[in-house]
Amino acid sequence: MIRKQTLVLVLASAAALGTIAASAGAQTAANPVPGEAAGTFMMASKFSEPTGELMYRNVCAGCHMPDAKGTQGAGFYPALAKNEKLAAGGYPVLVLMKGLNGMPAVGQMMTDQQVADVVNYVRTHFGNKYKDAVTPADVQPLR
Ligand code: HEC
Repeated sequence: MIRKQTLVLVLASAAALGTIAASAGAQTAANPVPGEAAGTFMMASKFSEPTGELMYRNVCAGCHMPDAKGTQGAGFYPALAKNEKLAAGGYPVLVLMKGLNGMPAVGQMMTDQQVADVVNYVRTHFGNKYKDAVTPADVQPLR
């Protein structure tokens, strides 16, 4: 008899905890991190990011990491930081426009200017110091 009562109590408090956990979850969902554009990458057919830096953060960082050091685990995402393959501006432009194995051709969803901007951003940040900027005219022939 006593045992049965204890069990009911345990079940009741478990249910109460569940309710608290559920409402905490709902609160988190209602207050997303400001500036976080969830799902933009997968759903957009055209990117609207106005600068190379924002484009990097919203599109490239998801795979190449915010510090551009890449990652290895479920897949291989090469570092763009201090990457000598960026010395020739045509190479990153080609990778963006045509894709490369696991790297999707994200440049197809950007304007020529946006491709040039994000390539120039990566080539002048993260320890890369390639100042010879690529232009939209370098991108256009790869459409
Ligand atoms: C969905 C994941 C993903 C996204 C998003 C992505 N990349 Fe990549 N990227 C990869 C993978 C994977 C590779 C390696 C491909 C290989 O060598 O097989 C790669 C390779 C590259 C390379 C060649 C690096 C080298 O050492 O050869 C460059 C340059 C590059 N990415 C730039 C970018 C830029 C700039 C963006 C954003 C506009 C971007 N990537 C977005 C996954 C991604």
